[in-house]
Amino acid sequence: MAEKNTKLSRRQFLGIAWGGSLSLLFAQGAIAFLKFIEPVTSGGFGGEIYAGKIEEFAINSINRVLKGRFYISRAEEGIIALWQKCPHLGCSVPWDEEEGQFHCSCHGSLFNEVGEVLSGPAPRPLDYFPSEIKEGEVWVDTGTPQQRSKHDSSHVTKV
Ligand code: FES
Repeated sequence: MAEKNTKLSRRQFLGIAWGGSLSLLFAQGAIAFLKFIEPVTSGGFGGEIYAGKIEEFAINSINRVLKGRFYISRAEEGIIALWQKCPHLGCSVPWDEEEGQFHCSCHGSLFNEVGEVLSGPAPRPLDYFPSEIKEGEVWVDTGTPQQRSKHDSSHVTKV
């Protein structure tokens, strides 16, 4: 009685190894592609960002939220989340504590604590992001920056 040969031939082994490697490579590429096209919805810039507890923002203070690229400007009546991007040519605008104003170092535009232009060349106030206070937590939607020709109190989220 003849015995059945169950060993893989060299050719069969290489075929399986090659096919397995190609499958793995394809799977990695598919995962990377899906991650690339997945919309950013939370946690990072472009999504909803947790800025902190409302009590962490003192009245008449400006606090930078790095991961969201915005400042929380707190006044008595509420907060406004100001995008750090200069509406002139897009430089990042720092808050100058000593001057008490936002001072763009690129071309010298100045903005007050609610983003109004004090001095050009910026053509409009700093854009702001819609914000909400949910159970004492400040959440900012960085997916929808709001342009404005002038500041008004409707841009402020009431506390
Ligand atoms: S980019 Fe800010 S003043 Fe030009």
